[in-house]
Amino acid sequence: MSKVTLVDHPLVQHKLTLMRRKDASTNSFRRLLNELAMLMTYEVTRDVAMQEVDIETPLEPMKAKVIDGKKLVFVSILRAGTGILDGMLSVVPGARVGHIGLYRDPKTLTAVEYYFKVPSHMEDRDVVVVDPMLATGNSAIAAIERVKETRPKSIKFVCLLTCPEGIKALQAAHPDVPIFTAAIDRELNDHGYILPGLGDAGDRIFGTK
Ligand code: URA
Repeated sequence: MSKVTLVDHPLVQHKLTLMRRKDASTNSFRRLLNELAMLMTYEVTRDVAMQEVDIETPLEPMKAKVIDGKKLVFVSILRAGTGILDGMLSVVPGARVGHIGLYRDPKTLTAVEYYFKVPSHMEDRDVVVVDPMLATGNSAIAAIERVKETRPKSIKFVCLLTCPEGIKALQAAHPDVPIFTAAIDRELNDHGYILPGLGDAGDRIFGTK
């Protein structure tokens, strides 16, 4: 079964609480998500491979560590994943970016793909799939299935918030994909929303409600 990492750093938890409040403005919701994404990225990239290179400091030559291999790929599940992307890119500015467009059929809550674009040479790359909410798990499962077709070296999944139902579904479909989250909430309601949650992440990021 895949590992679930709960990022419980006080800064992460504090910012998440501010985001959950229904009176948080679009502006502050977006800014907090950006900051949270940066903090989550530290945890997600903790085990990336390193290599030693020869450099010269002003005083002497030395062997110093840099991140090894081809660039990481962040794959954003549209549209809410975009809200996490900026924060992650400010910490890993050289990362490549992929997009997958999925919408949730409001009746069946299943994921329907309408867009897919990722960098070349995926077989040499480590991928982080991002979406703020892991709710039913349908979008994440479909996105990861699609990414797996490109045969990347590894895949991780990052969200802000999830619930037991979402974790169970994703672990069952992709037991090889570790999950990183800032919180595991109580439950999913009949409309596929996480409780207590933070509402519709896309609407809150883009101010569309
Ligand atoms: N997507 C959201 O934006 N919010 C939820 O609670 C569940 C899915």
